[in-house]
Amino acid sequence: MEKFVINGGHKLHGEIDISGAKNAAVAIIPATILAEDICRIENIPDIRDVQVMVKILIEMGATVRYINSNTLEIDTRYIRSYVIPYEMTKYSRSSYYLLGALLGRYSHAKVAMPGGCNFGGVRPIDFHLKGFAKLGAVITNDNGMIDAQAESLSGNMIYFDKVSVGATVNIMLAAVKAKGLTVIENAAKEPHIVDLANFLNLMGANVTGAGTDVIRIKGVSSLHGCSYSIIPDQIEAGTFMVAVAAAKGDVTLKNVTPKHLESITAKLRECGVTVEETDDTVRVISDERSGSCKVTAMPHPGFPTDMQPQMTTFLALSNGTSIVTDGVWDNRFRYVDQLSKMGANIQIEGKAAFITGVEKLTGAPVRADDLRAGAAMLIAGMCAHGRTTIEEIYHIERGYEKIVEKLRGIGADISKVDFPDNAEKEEKHNAG
Ligand code: EPZ
Repeated sequence: MEKFVINGGHKLHGEIDISGAKNAAVAIIPATILAEDICRIENIPDIRDVQVMVKILIEMGATVRYINSNTLEIDTRYIRSYVIPYEMTKYSRSSYYLLGALLGRYSHAKVAMPGGCNFGGVRPIDFHLKGFAKLGAVITNDNGMIDAQAESLSGNMIYFDKVSVGATVNIMLAAVKAKGLTVIENAAKEPHIVDLANFLNLMGANVTGAGTDVIRIKGVSSLHGCSYSIIPDQIEAGTFMVAVAAAKGDVTLKNVTPKHLESITAKLRECGVTVEETDDTVRVISDERSGSCKVTAMPHPGFPTDMQPQMTTFLALSNGTSIVTDGVWDNRFRYVDQLSKMGANIQIEGKAAFITGVEKLTGAPVRADDLRAGAAMLIAGMCAHGRTTIEEIYHIERGYEKIVEKLRGIGADISKVDFPDNAEKEEKHNAG
């Protein structure tokens, strides 16, 4: 089994280039289905979730040309089916975006329920389906496959009880060619929602209000190809910012949008970390033990829930007590068990983690329970005294491009090692 092996205690110095945003890419790639043309997309992160989505499009009949590892040309003219079986969707949760894209193109979509991160139990898509129904689709469930079809889609007013990134994306995709006006109320405002709207408008759609909680979509008869560059990944950038704050050092992140990092910057500064910005870089300087703070993860522009595990890990080493609450996901603290093995002092009560900062963590064999929990283990391992091994690293590689290369480039002692089975048992045995 492949694991990351980290020898902690090294301060981090240097520069990192931030990749394109995963959660923008996994929405924009299926959106190309609506163009029925050729789209050129740059700054795409070369990560597992993108590779899986590209593979699905190819199996659907699209042609994808890699100009380089981060630039794709996607030709969706010859896609032949609106049915996506489980064999194609099981590895990626964002495959549910194919529902909105295929519904938008064919007024019919039949997609098997997806996989993806398994925190918070089964992740519902009731808001998505209610939205499709408001546009005129009839929804049935056929052996785990969602079947959504309509004579034709008509615009409508759609109100989401709770802010949902996925539901906002999916309704945008389905509504761009629906007859008339669609208004999404209580829409998600994440940077990747704005990125998708910009991409759709470049294809000839008429989407206004993205980035606010009311998005208006005037249906158009057809869309066309375009060239587009994905925004930088604010969660990758935030992960590295917090890693430097926790492990100490001085690192500059390049190709970022500081405005997308505002809540993370504010929280780190509140804890006494130095953060300097230019128009496309952020520099984090940390040379002493940080202070504590309270963090509540909320939809954008609040503190991102996808940064909650990383921030909790940083606060586990801070001076004082902190409270981290997740206002988005009900059960996103499973990784705390792994941090406790390394000496963290954290109590979970409902939706909140009560953290008593400790002087140091010690290396241990831990597991990545999901993508951002895995990122938290990377941060903990880089700070801990001694050796940490992380298993289930495929979770991490789903969302962080060249993660070992990037961390080594700023001085972390990390490598990816393949452990044959017996070593595996020994490792567990030694861990006691
Ligand atoms: C997206 O997931 C992201 N994934 C998640 O990032 C992120 O944590 C989440 O948005 C919140 O920002 C992608 O973009 C691929 P939601 P999504 O719909 O769309 C409830 C990562 O680390 N809800 O905004 O699935 C839901 O249970 C991943 O990159 C319903 O009840 O999240 C949750 O409590 C992990 N019914 C809340 O809304 C629905 O139909 C927000 O979920 C949909 C959602």
